[in-house]
Amino acid sequence: MVLCSLHLIALKDGITPASFLASLREAGIKPIVQARVFRWMILPTQLSAGHLLARNIHWDMLLMLSPSTQISESVRAASIAAEWTASAGTSSKLLSGYAATNAALLNSAVVPAGVDLDAAKKADSSKNLELTPELASFISSLPAHLASHPVSMLNLISFNPGGQAQYVKYGQEFSARVGARYGGRVKIVGKVTSSGAEDTKQEGWDEIAFVHYPSIAHFAAMAGDKDYQEVNHTYRLGALKDTFIICVLEVTDDGEVVDGTRKENKMKL
Ligand SMILES: *[C@@H]1O[C@H](CO)[C@@H](O)[C@H](O)[C@H]1NC(C)=O
Repeated sequence: MVLCSLHLIALKDGITPASFLASLREAGIKPIVQARVFRWMILPTQLSAGHLLARNIHWDMLLMLSPSTQISESVRAASIAAEWTASAGTSSKLLSGYAATNAALLNSAVVPAGVDLDAAKKADSSKNLELTPELASFISSLPAHLASHPVSMLNLISFNPGGQAQYVKYGQEFSARVGARYGGRVKIVGKVTSSGAEDTKQEGWDEIAFVHYPSIAHFAAMAGDKDYQEVNHTYRLGALKDTFIICVLEVTDDGEVVDGTRKENKMKL
């Protein structure tokens, strides 16, 4: 077990992801994960909701840092307008292998998502809560290089009493029945631990999961799949007291989307 820290960050006006990442490097910090926030997928309903969903906060970046690195007060003062953090214990093997695992995922051949966005946009949203017309419209409005770009979903999880065993079952059913078909791959899992001032464990969060999808359309297609909905309703929903999922795009040191094959892409969010 090794501790890592998660940081959702809103940058100060005038600070770009590239200049922020440069200031981290100058301070000797090399994040395990550095990503730009793409979109909320599922909002927290109670835990941390006041902080995460506060008016006027637009989260810009997600960092995952190893225990030996911390953002210094001077970097924080210069660049960070708002921050939400969590500590999690995870396997040192997952973390040390992360760069290689992720590079392989970013470069792997991808099956099409197979989601009919036009049908979803017209659908009665009450019939398919999982793939809303709003999400379908968001995806179809994206430029091609972002619509087809790999994404990572940060999941924070809080269990109902006794929910943990059921959630393990969900993980198994998810992997066996739906995950692989849509290219979903769990990259990092961890247990939330107590930490200093803002105590995410005390707030009630239990676990984190960081999950790869070949594109946001793959996630949307999966969410709209009957098999997924059955697994979600049978095993996931009852296990959870609260959860959130935020979709991020991992970036290179210059703040641009990481892509093994198309380095020229410039990201406009
Ligand atoms: C699981 O089902 C609930 C209720 O229908 C829905 O709100 C949620 O988005 C689903 N989860 C995912 C990850 O799609």
